[in-house]
Amino acid sequence: MTVLRPRRLRATPALRRLVAETRLHPAELVLPIFVREGAGEPLPIRSMPGVLQHSTESLRGALTDAAEAGIGGVMLFGVPEQRDARGSGATDPDGILNVATRIAAGEVGDALVVQTDLCLDEFTDHGHCGVLAVDGSVDNDATLERYRDMAVMQAASGSQLLGLSGMMDAQVAAVRDALDGSGYTTVPILAYAGKYASAFYGPFRDAVESELKGDRRSYQLDPANGREGRREAALDEAEGADIVMVKPAGSYLDVLADVARASSIPVWAYQVSGEYAMIEAAAAHGWIDRRRAVLESLVAIRRAGADAVLTYWAVEAARWIRDER
Ligand code: PBG
Repeated sequence: MTVLRPRRLRATPALRRLVAETRLHPAELVLPIFVREGAGEPLPIRSMPGVLQHSTESLRGALTDAAEAGIGGVMLFGVPEQRDARGSGATDPDGILNVATRIAAGEVGDALVVQTDLCLDEFTDHGHCGVLAVDGSVDNDATLERYRDMAVMQAASGSQLLGLSGMMDAQVAAVRDALDGSGYTTVPILAYAGKYASAFYGPFRDAVESELKGDRRSYQLDPANGREGRREAALDEAEGADIVMVKPAGSYLDVLADVARASSIPVWAYQVSGEYAMIEAAAAHGWIDRRRAVLESLVAIRRAGADAVLTYWAVEAARWIRDER
């Protein structure tokens, strides 16, 4: 009797390499970068060992490293010194995110895709992703007005891809309209379509010194709902998004796979701060092989269907991938 032997293709490193279905490439990795207003030197982030809040000076070195590693791009986040109810710093040309964007566009704008987080939570004193109504709820349509202004300011600062992470209804359509109306018809939109209300964003709050009390469950998705993630992705595509994203990545691979199958535009995933912190913490204890765990987590996200991945390990992973060749 013939025995079926799938192990045949696993016998040698060369065979395994040849039959691998998924490969990581540096160009598919995007590095999130935090830039802190008023920082004289780069500052460590307590819950994200190895990740820094950059000063505008140390930002330049980080950008050069990223370009040399051959990754696809950087996603910039600003950490302002002052915050207020409407997040004024987000639309101030001298606000930290817009300053950092001009530096990045000038420094590496040809080598990397310079991307910006378009959301108000880093800039508001209440820490919500939008402006508040009198009853304290997040006012969707008033927030859209702020996003429109932010989008135009970011494009004017040199952002090459706007990352809409606020989860307001109709934000993609509003931002597209504002960009087109200001002549930025060629600036693309990355829509955080399936963005879940996740505990895995915990360390990010340290990274941006967020002042949020309460939670984001009235605008981010319920982790229980896969269908809702698919719906958001379809709506964002219909509103004119150029790329859609699922976030977090590791705990939402099913949503990612579903969106990847249904989407006719690129689908990205964000391996978030908590996913980073978990592997780093386990590795620091010697409980897990750090490099293998990082690369396995990334290949799993790609296998599930992500065309590109935002990850805090982008530069290091890019170097490892090169070494392996
Ligand atoms: C919103 C935003 C968040 C993250 C990226 N963009 C925070 C949130 O929605 O609570 C989290 C990213 C991470 O955890 O790595 N500006």
